Amino acid sequence: MKGMANGMIEVDSLTKQRAGRPVLDAVSLRGTEAGVTVLVGASGSGKSTLLRCLNGLEIFEGGSITIAGHRLAAGGQSTPVLDDLRRDVGMVFQQFNLFPHLSVLENVMLAPRVVSKLPVEEARSRAVDLLDRVGLSSFAAARPATLSGGQQQRVAIARALAMRPRVMLFDEPTSALDPTMTSEVLEVIVDLAKGGQTMVVVTHDHGFAKRAATWVVELAAGRVVRQGTATEVLP
Ligand SMILES: Nc1ncnc2c1ncn2[C@@H]1O[C@H](COP(=O)(O)OP(=O)(O)OP(=O)(O)O)[C@@H](O)[C@H]1O
Ligand SMILES: [Mg+2]
Repeated sequence: MKGMANGMIEVDSLTKQRAGRPVLDAVSLRGTEAGVTVLVGASGSGKSTLLRCLNGLEIFEGGSITIAGHRLAAGGQSTPVLDDLRRDVGMVFQQFNLFPHLSVLENVMLAPRVVSKLPVEEARSRAVDLLDRVGLSSFAAARPATLSGGQQQRVAIARALAMRPRVMLFDEPTSALDPTMTSEVLEVIVDLAKGGQTMVVVTHDHGFAKRAATWVVELAAGRVVRQGTATEVLP
């Protein structure tokens, strides 16, 4: 269901257990209507799990999520709901997971072709524009393995953007990268933020959070311990 809540993210009392132990414990997020929400917290605090719940990759036992007009209930979603959700919510992981046998351009064209049945010329021109936007026009014909980690991550971002998602989720997008590659990827994400893309970013990069975050949420042991602006929450 799509409505006025375009891009809005609301999490109400979300509870998720693993092996009988809560890994998310009554997590509620508000004030994330649009803009850039940054999730911080120690290793194991539940950041990735929360992000995966937002994309329907995890089943949760309690509470509910509304994201980009889709309502996710406890106990799992039907396949049509998940298909709809994933058209509107893109995700970028720490490991880029590009298709190694496809060119960079083909990687970016694939989901619009297969999922949205976009005609090949439209998918191609959309992919060309996106590769330009992430500064990789000259790599369109290359295989992913011939690119640096930072370049591969920018392809992964272009690939997610190709579905024109209302919300983008990033799970530590730079933690596998060296400082130079980190900054080239963060520049792309900051540009997206400036362009008005709603996103949730898990990162340990407080510099990025201070530049780009409209809202910062700190998790500890599966609970929200603080949320507010970057200056309120971060040291
Ligand atoms: N596949 C799994 N099976 C069992 N437990 C898991 C699994 N994945 C994560 N956990 C547990 O769930 C909790 C939350 O993990 P999660 O990966 O969400 O944390 P995180 O904040 O993303 O940590 P990190 O900063 O290390 O990525 C941890 O206690 C973790 O051990
Ligand atoms: Mg994680």
